[in-house]
Amino acid sequence: MNETLVNIMKKINIGLFGFGVVGEGIYKVLSEKSQLNTEIKKIVIKHPEKKRNAPAQLFTTDAKEILDDPEIDIVVELIDDAEAAFEIAKTAMNSGKSVVSANKKMIAEHASELIELQRKNKVSFLYEAAVCGSIPIIRNLEEYYDNDLLNYVKGIVNGSTNYILTKMKSENQSYDDALFSAQKNGFAESDPTLDVEGIDAANKLSIIILHAFGRLISHEEILRKGITSLKTEDFQYATEKGLVIKLIASCQLDDKNKLIPTVLPTFIEKSKTLALVNNEFNGVLIGSALADEQFLYGKGAGRFPTSSAVLSDISALRYSYKYELRKGIQNGFQSNYSSLQRIYLGFDPKENIDQNLFENIEESYQSNHHAYVTGSINLEKLKSSGWLENKAISIIAF
Ligand SMILES: NC(=O)c1ccc[n+]([C@@H]2O[C@H](COP(=O)([O-])OP(=O)(O)OC[C@H]3O[C@@H](n4cnc5c(N)ncnc54)[C@H](OP(=O)(O)O)[C@@H]3O)[C@@H](O)[C@H]2O)c1
Repeated sequence: MNETLVNIMKKINIGLFGFGVVGEGIYKVLSEKSQLNTEIKKIVIKHPEKKRNAPAQLFTTDAKEILDDPEIDIVVELIDDAEAAFEIAKTAMNSGKSVVSANKKMIAEHASELIELQRKNKVSFLYEAAVCGSIPIIRNLEEYYDNDLLNYVKGIVNGSTNYILTKMKSENQSYDDALFSAQKNGFAESDPTLDVEGIDAANKLSIIILHAFGRLISHEEILRKGITSLKTEDFQYATEKGLVIKLIASCQLDDKNKLIPTVLPTFIEKSKTLALVNNEFNGVLIGSALADEQFLYGKGAGRFPTSSAVLSDISALRYSYKYELRKGIQNGFQSNYSSLQRIYLGFDPKENIDQNLFENIEESYQSNHHAYVTGSINLEKLKSSGWLENKAISIIAF
C-alpha cells in the first residue's frame, strides 16, 4: 500500500482545546457523524465546574495533557483567547503536531510567526474556519486562484454584524435586541466589540489578503468603521433610495499594484448579489482577470457551519495538506488611500463637521436632530478626519 493511502486510513488522535460553540460542535460531528477514523483523546477547557455534554474523563484544564502526549497527532484549537491560543499553537507545532484553528484574531496578529513555525517544524497549520465559517475561501484562494490574477476580493465576512443589520432592517429590531439575539444564537464573538467595530472583519480581511495577494497586513492598517454608529435615519435613507446597508470588507488592487483595503458599512443596491446575503450568511465576490467575477456564499458563523470547515481541515491533514502561500509573503504594506470614495456622512446638526474635507458634495440635508452629506472624499483624508473613530458620526460607503 502506498504511503498516502496508509496515512488516509490511519487513526488520527486529536487533542481539542475549547468546548464552546465550535468545540462542542466538532466533538459532536467527530463522535456521531464523521466517517473519519479519529479519536478525541483529551479536551482542555478553562472552567472545570461547567456541566459538559461529553464524558467527564475527557476533560482537563492542563494543556500539557495534550501538548506533551506523543500519541496526539493533531491539535484542534477552538478557544476564545487569542494570546493563549498562540501559545498553544506555538508549543504544539514545536512538538511536531499539526494544528487546526478557527482563531482569526490570533492568526491575523501572529501570521508571520505561525507561518515560520509551520515551515521550521515541517507540520501543517490550517484555519479554514477562521474566515467566513463554512465557506471554503482560503482553500479556493490557495488552490483554484493560484494562477489567475486577482483584482479584488470583497464581501460580507462577519456573520454576527450581518445578522444584526438584517434584523434591524427587516424586523425593525433595536441594535441592542439584535446583538443579544446574535449572541444567543452563538454567532457573536465572546467580546462583541470585535464584531460590531469591524475588527473581526479586518482580521479576516488581512488573512484573505495574505492568501489572495501574498501580503502581510495588520488589521490596524486597514481603514475601518464598524456598525455601532448607524442610526435609524441612515436605514430610512437606505430604504428611500432602494439600498441596503451591509458591512463590507474589501481589498482591491489598483493599476500600480497597490492595495486598497477597507472595512466599511456600505450601501448596496437591493438587486445586487451582496444585498441578498442575510442573517448569519456570508458572501464573497472574487474579481479575477480570467474568471471575471465569482461569488462564494454560505453560513459564516454558528456551531455546525463552522465545524464543517474544521472537519475539512482535519480531513485534509490525513494527506498532510499545507497552505503553500505560493503568492509569496511580502512584508510591509503599501497602502493606496489616495483614491476617492463616495460616502454618506450622517451626524447630529450640533456636531462641527468640516465639510471642506470633501472633494465634492452631491447632496446635503439637515433637520433639527439629523443631518447628512453625501459626496466624494479622498480616503487618506477620511482616515485622518477623526470621523471613523467618532461614535456620533455614521459613515456609509456607496
Ligand atoms: N462561534 C462561531 O460561529 C465562530 C465562527 C468562526 C470562528 N470562530 C472562532 O472559534 C473560536 C471559538 O469560538 P466559540 O464561539 O466556540 O467560543 P466560545 O463558545 O466562547 O468557547 C470558548 C471555549 O474556549 C475555552 N477556553 C477559553 N480560554 C481557554 C484557555 N486558556 N484554555 C483552554 N480553554 C479555554 C472555554 O472554556 P470553558 O468552556 O471552560 O469556559 C470554552 O470552552 C474563536 O477563536 C472564534 O473566533 C467562532
